[in-house]
Amino acid sequence: MDGTSFDTVKTWVQQAHHIAVLTGAGISAESGVPTFRDAQTGYWAQVSPEDMATEAGFRAHPQRVWDWYQYRRDLLAGVLPNAGHQALAVFQQQHPDRLTLITQNVDGLHQRAGSSAVLCLHGDIFEDRWLEPPRECCRIDHAVPGHPPHCAGCCNRVRPGVVWFGESLPSAKLDAAQCAAERCDVMLVVGTAGAVYPAARLAHVTRAAGGRVAVLNPSPSALDGVAHRVLRGTAASVLPSLLAD
Ligand code: APR
Repeated sequence: MDGTSFDTVKTWVQQAHHIAVLTGAGISAESGVPTFRDAQTGYWAQVSPEDMATEAGFRAHPQRVWDWYQYRRDLLAGVLPNAGHQALAVFQQQHPDRLTLITQNVDGLHQRAGSSAVLCLHGDIFEDRWLEPPRECCRIDHAVPGHPPHCAGCCNRVRPGVVWFGESLPSAKLDAAQCAAERCDVMLVVGTAGAVYPAARLAHVTRAAGGRVAVLNPSPSALDGVAHRVLRGTAASVLPSLLAD
């Protein structure tokens, strides 16, 4: 990695009144969680996003989609947050109110590392919710077990609480992320290909508002062109020193 860029970004971080961090699947890679778009090991190299990450895909093959999310839940239960998640959590604890953590990840690893008020733009894979608007008979804790579980009263099906393609992001969280992107002095974009909007737009928002943008990624990303500096390294190897006092 270019040491000058590292030093520059570290100075920005130290001087910033407010920092926004946008993370993606890459920050969890060193915990052993596959990313989506890696050509060999990424989820989208094994299954199609149309099948596994759309409402239409779930309606067409509910068991297959449910079982895939269950497989991912099981995988996540066996991994731990890494030094990248931990460095962000420690910084947040040491500098309350200076850092807003925005993530596209649904894996809960930021929270397990000790981060609070994480703006999870794409939901939570461990959450269950109803496919159809729930009726009075729909009680998640009483759902009949199955693949997927369903309501005994009306057969409504349970789905994972993630944001699928074509769905809206949780508006309060997206608004808060947008505000943080506008007001931050520095945005760190960590471990995302920058291919999915509206999350990727946040880096553009920061740049347009006059803030600095730094990308941390071992490989080229779609947001490199928006960044004032690109750090070619991994989250777990760079974040601890970047965020240390
Ligand atoms: N440290 C930092 N970055 C890494 C590391 C690492 N150790 N390993 C891989 N990366 C980078 C890759 O180079 C890639 O740019 O992480 C990025 C992961 O990109 P994607 O797999 O596309 O994941 P992400 O950008 O989070 O995807 C966004 O797409 O399908 C959806 O909903 C899903 O939230 C996800 C969204």
